[in-house]
Amino acid sequence: MDVQGLRCLVTGTASGIGDAVARRLIDDGAEVISLDRNKPSADVAQHVEVDLSDPASIDSALAQVDGTFDALANVAGIPGTAPADLVFKVNFLGMRHLTEASLERFNPGGSIVVVSSTAGFQWAQRLEALREVVATESFEEGAAWFAAHPQQGNAYNFSKEAATVYSMAMGGAVREMNELRINAVLPGPVETPILADFESSMGKETLDGVKAFLGRHAEPDDIARVIVFLASRDSRWVNGTTLIADGGISGAVLAGLVPAPEI
Ligand SMILES: NC(=O)c1ccc[n+]([C@@H]2O[C@H](COP(=O)([O-])OP(=O)(O)OC[C@H]3O[C@@H](n4cnc5c(N)ncnc54)[C@H](O)[C@@H]3O)[C@@H](O)[C@H]2O)c1
Repeated sequence: MDVQGLRCLVTGTASGIGDAVARRLIDDGAEVISLDRNKPSADVAQHVEVDLSDPASIDSALAQVDGTFDALANVAGIPGTAPADLVFKVNFLGMRHLTEASLERFNPGGSIVVVSSTAGFQWAQRLEALREVVATESFEEGAAWFAAHPQQGNAYNFSKEAATVYSMAMGGAVREMNELRINAVLPGPVETPILADFESSMGKETLDGVKAFLGRHAEPDDIARVIVFLASRDSRWVNGTTLIADGGISGAVLAGLVPAPEI
């Protein structure tokens, strides 16, 4: 993929998909600046410790990075086994705060990638609430909205629905700003440390059913390739959209061939 010489911020680099993204970007000639609460093992140009549940930590992490960027891959996330308010902070509010705090430092044509999830596949049914929370103007306002509007079901799913709707909604605005792009990647189950938590919060039988249908779960690099494509120059006219990378399970559900999983 054409990422030669690009300066890329990547969150979630210490594990799983983010680690695979960092390695693939570096192999393809990009410079990676890592943002994670833990240290990555990939050979990144710079690592800055950050807690994405805390906007002050995000601001301080960005202040420790010099210069401008060409891409931001928002990969870090936590599962629905964590407390709901924390899940919403890390997976949506922190991701959005980092994205918006870095916008002015992008080079023209830069790309933002948001790792959402097929677990947020019901975003259209909750669009009214999602539009409200996406329209909140700050991390704190978003957290207050979430506390005042308890959602049914798993907070993880809601956080990913918000990430998906945010990515679609922001495409036009970031293009107008500096010809930037923003897109979401929606993975199905991936073999990473988070998967055990998903088995407990979404049901092991459900995830085993998906695995049986497809023959395997994704490997981190299956998803990293998609993220790197969206970060690269190759996807220059792809903006404000979602790219499902799940081996085909969503297509089968949408076509009515298999029932939607209860997660
Ligand atoms: N693995 C899957 O099945 C799957 C499926 C769909 C979507 N996703 C999404 O992919 C992304 C990556 O997940 P993964 O599977 O690689 O999980 P992982 O647990 O292997 O990695 C998560 C990374 O996020 C970092 N992180 C977590 N909380 C943080 C915080 N508060 N501040 C800074 N960094 C923090 C962790 O240190 C870790 O490096 C997540 O957003 C997840 O929701 C994963």
